[in-house]
Amino acid sequence: MDLTPQNHRIHLNDGNSIPIIGLGTYSTPKTTAKGACYEAVKIAIDVGYRHFDGALVYGNEDEIGRAIHEKIADGTVTREDLYYCGKLWNTFHPPQLVRSSLEKSLKLLKFDYIDLYLIELPLAFKALEALKDAGLVKSIGVSNFNRRQLELILNKPGLKYKPVVNQIECHPYFTQPKFKEICDSHGIVIVGYSPLGTCRDSLWVNVKIPSLLDDPVLNSIAAKYKKTSAQVALRFQLQRNIIVIPKSFNPERIKQNFEIFDFSLTSEEMKIVSNLNRNERYVELLMWKDHPEYPFNDLY
Ligand code: A2P
Repeated sequence: MDLTPQNHRIHLNDGNSIPIIGLGTYSTPKTTAKGACYEAVKIAIDVGYRHFDGALVYGNEDEIGRAIHEKIADGTVTREDLYYCGKLWNTFHPPQLVRSSLEKSLKLLKFDYIDLYLIELPLAFKALEALKDAGLVKSIGVSNFNRRQLELILNKPGLKYKPVVNQIECHPYFTQPKFKEICDSHGIVIVGYSPLGTCRDSLWVNVKIPSLLDDPVLNSIAAKYKKTSAQVALRFQLQRNIIVIPKSFNPERIKQNFEIFDFSLTSEEMKIVSNLNRNERYVELLMWKDHPEYPFNDLY
């Protein structure tokens, strides 16, 4: 696998491909300045990012769309160079709401289609298949599904399209080795969210887990390559064929997080980083712990 800043797409089970690094765009709306996401996306495109991970519920798809259209208009990229992943929020699961939810996103983004659309729970999958058939999305996938929920879909009679990805928390402190094997066996790629250990907002993050980027092992490997712990954490996932979507709205860090194609970890270092796994997640979504489909009662 020869991944470069110019060419770092990997294959999906439906014949499409996805850039292995994307810019995460969730930022607490209350404390994020209007326009910060717009600026970040423009900088990221200049740096070389071609994949953006967003959602209607993040409240900034208009900014993402505006930035992308400006970069298309000035000739930096074409729509086809870019990859956008959107998400169906929980309240839009009834099948009759699915298309209108996507259409809201398309309108904000000013796109004719998006590349990948994800849902959180199994109920709406049939309706997502219809969006793919209508050409409004290129690929469909899921997010925060545990093994049981994923297999529920895979074993569903009449399933037309398998999910291409499962977007789940994944980083050196939560490496998900068993779940990765299962996803691999089904040809489902993992998109690892919170690849840097999240923003540590105690409202939704388990801050009892130490900060990933302060980890001494990651930092000592980073020193060897004159890289940062963040770059080592991202490179580790790349070498496992896991897609990373680090969020940053800071120009220096957006650039830094993309500079992961010019070094590689040895197999010994891959093992050492794998051993940092704590089997604990930063993002527990405890506000939904009483929901019958709460996905995190099981480790995976
Ligand atoms: P900022 O947007 O100010 O750069 P994750 O992607 O795991 O959710 O982590 C996102 C958090 O990590 C954000 O708070 C982001 O802040 C910060 N961050 C992003 N890139 C880096 C980096 N290279 N070094 C340190 N912190 C980073």
